[in-house]
Amino acid sequence: MSAGKNILCIGAGYVGGPTMTVIAAKCPEYRVTVVDIDKNKIEAWNSDRLPIYEPGLDELVHRTRNKNLYFSSDIEKGIREADIIFVSVNTPTKTFGQGAGMAADLQYWEKTARQILANAEGRKVIVEKSTLPVRTAAAMKRIFNGKTHDASLEVVSNPEFLAEGTAIRDLEKPDRVLIGSRETAEGIRAREEIVAIYAHWVPREKIIESNVWSSELSKLASNAFLAQRISSINSFSALCEATEADIDQVAYAIGTDSRIGPDFLKASVGFGGSCFRKDILNLVYICQGYGLDAVADYWRSVVEMNEWQEQRFVRNMLSSLFNTVAGKRIALFGFAFKANTGDTRESPAIYVARGLLEERAHVVISDPKALENARKDLEDESENVTFETDPYKAAEGAHAIAILTEWDLYKDLDYEKIFQTMVHPAFIFDGRNILDHRKLFSLGYNVFGIGKPFLKH
Ligand SMILES: NC(=O)c1ccc[n+]([C@@H]2O[C@H](COP(=O)([O-])OP(=O)(O)OC[C@H]3O[C@@H](n4cnc5c(N)ncnc54)[C@H](O)[C@@H]3O)[C@@H](O)[C@H]2O)c1
Repeated sequence: MSAGKNILCIGAGYVGGPTMTVIAAKCPEYRVTVVDIDKNKIEAWNSDRLPIYEPGLDELVHRTRNKNLYFSSDIEKGIREADIIFVSVNTPTKTFGQGAGMAADLQYWEKTARQILANAEGRKVIVEKSTLPVRTAAAMKRIFNGKTHDASLEVVSNPEFLAEGTAIRDLEKPDRVLIGSRETAEGIRAREEIVAIYAHWVPREKIIESNVWSSELSKLASNAFLAQRISSINSFSALCEATEADIDQVAYAIGTDSRIGPDFLKASVGFGGSCFRKDILNLVYICQGYGLDAVADYWRSVVEMNEWQEQRFVRNMLSSLFNTVAGKRIALFGFAFKANTGDTRESPAIYVARGLLEERAHVVISDPKALENARKDLEDESENVTFETDPYKAAEGAHAIAILTEWDLYKDLDYEKIFQTMVHPAFIFDGRNILDHRKLFSLGYNVFGIGKPFLKH
């Protein structure tokens, strides 16, 4: 075990918070501090109501907070005292200027780099935890080279592969940890310090070392591959609907091929989350920058297929509901981009809700964890949207229910009771294929799944 060090993480979001909590829990001799410019967020991390929901997170924070895990707003002090600085700030898609809508917006990243530069003295290892365009470490190193007084800052890449909803499990039992650095003596020394942290609980063979560019690019490539599997199966879901094949049967049949494997073959209304879309568009932008247009077009089609799937879902709802939803109450079950999180960033539910609102429906949104974020996402539409925690109440008087998040609780509702309170004919659009469609049909519903035969009365 290595001697205890001061670890700082800049950015207390979905990645910084859980990642540092697990590091603190697994490495009791390290002192871990998490800082953020958002003071409210830091207050929440220090309270009983954490700013994010993740299964297992509350318990772990309570176990480590104020022992060797601290949340603070004093970024400069944190930088001064740290030996190792993880940077986990957001890197959203740029909304302005060159590369708008595609390139990564690196303003938060660069501000952080400059703040580190202004406050650092002595030797520190800077760890890229955020997902960044390949070769960002070179830009960071150049910024750090501008330092006039005594500081030696080595940049290491350690992208995060956790998935929201299973973050703690993923961090405690990762498939792998990737650490990239320069191949110089200083680079390798810095890499070894990061390896030493993870080696507390991750088997050594699962800690992959690489050069810094491979590490940066592997994160983008990994998200591109995962999203591509979803778009691939979704493309087949449309073909299933046209041919009476069943997408779950097709997915099972192809997933049992050991070369393909079963994961990420669940057809749905589409992928969401803050990462897939932004990281693929960023990849497309990078490829274009290198003149690799065929590669850029190939990956762009993954995002386009996802958009098409979302549009198709709304079109199916509209045409099934007799080509009009104006004035109709439609209940959306689930608003988070996936189960077990309150995160709604890029959730397909936002697209579906907006599509229905454009057609003048009255939309009722139910979700066990995401209503606060849903309210913010649709704040410009507050007149035509109702937020309702109880799904039974949400469905009362509705013409249709759309399942948009695969929360377990929606599998176990009393759909017979719900049917009695809805307007008839009643419709269920199962955007996650989690319900028993035959059973619902026998209760009287018209049932539309993804890539399934439509069950119409
Ligand atoms: N969310 C995921 O599932 C996930 C998974 C893997 C990787 N990532 C990547 O990790 C990075 C962070 O993602 P996230 O989901 O945690 O984002 P987030 O928006 O939840 O958190 C980022 C935090 O950084 C803070 N911040 C921004 N600029 C700052 C500054 N100058 N100083 C201090 N704090 C600052 C913000 O206030 C925010 O709280 C992104 O690059 C993302 O692509 C995310």
